[in-house]
Amino acid sequence: MNIIIAENYADMSEIAAGIIAKTVIEKPNAVLGLATGTSPIGTYKKLIEYYNNKLISFKNAHTVNLDEYVGLPEEHEQSYHYFMRDILFNHIDVKPENVHIPCGLGDDLEANCRGYERILKQNPTDLQLLGIGSNGHIGFNEPHTPFKSYTHIVELTERTRHDNARLFGFVGSVPKQAITMGIVGICHAKKILILASGSNKADAVHDMVCGDISEHCPASILQLHSDATLVVDKEAASKLDESAISQSV
Ligand code: F6R
Repeated sequence: MNIIIAENYADMSEIAAGIIAKTVIEKPNAVLGLATGTSPIGTYKKLIEYYNNKLISFKNAHTVNLDEYVGLPEEHEQSYHYFMRDILFNHIDVKPENVHIPCGLGDDLEANCRGYERILKQNPTDLQLLGIGSNGHIGFNEPHTPFKSYTHIVELTERTRHDNARLFGFVGSVPKQAITMGIVGICHAKKILILASGSNKADAVHDMVCGDISEHCPASILQLHSDATLVVDKEAASKLDESAISQSV
């Protein structure tokens, strides 16, 4: 894994936006795998800045998001559909028909999962942006999700619901289930870009990079990816072994 240690969140965001911008400049019709949450917000702001300065365009790009809560309508302010429109899509020239986010609504969620797998097959991801949960999850693939998982419905752990409660006001309103791209879908991306900032991610970052490759830490599978880059601020990197940093390629 290639590891880039950033000074802070702003620095991490600028580095990550540069990597994504390069992908879109080199391949204007790139498929970008996108994440929600706090980690990528600064990166998205930078991309909007580059777009406004006419350095990049998303008019031929396609996007596939990682996940969505089960049961939240698209207009709900905490849904990931709403988040993506609010934080990124409403501010760039990506075509709505080229945007894909899993659907957590309806009577047949298994059919939604199968439908999303078809979308992923039609849109092979060039670059997958990821955050990491404090428990090592990627997407909403919680610890002990089989590495061979495809898009599926997941029961969110109490830890994840508590981590995300800050956005909902209180933990009781955080949905208990989500639909998530599986680990197979994530790892199919040609390039993976993982963001981590803050001391609450230090243990997860350590386990992802230096720990055993184990379903206990879903992100540890990324050690096997041929083109994975971690952009991490100093606090989140604080528990990394020196050897991991110096051996980083
Ligand atoms: C978001 C996602 C999650 C988050 C992770 C970190 O689409 O799939 O894996 O990336 O929970 O969240 P933040 O960035 O809010 O700390």
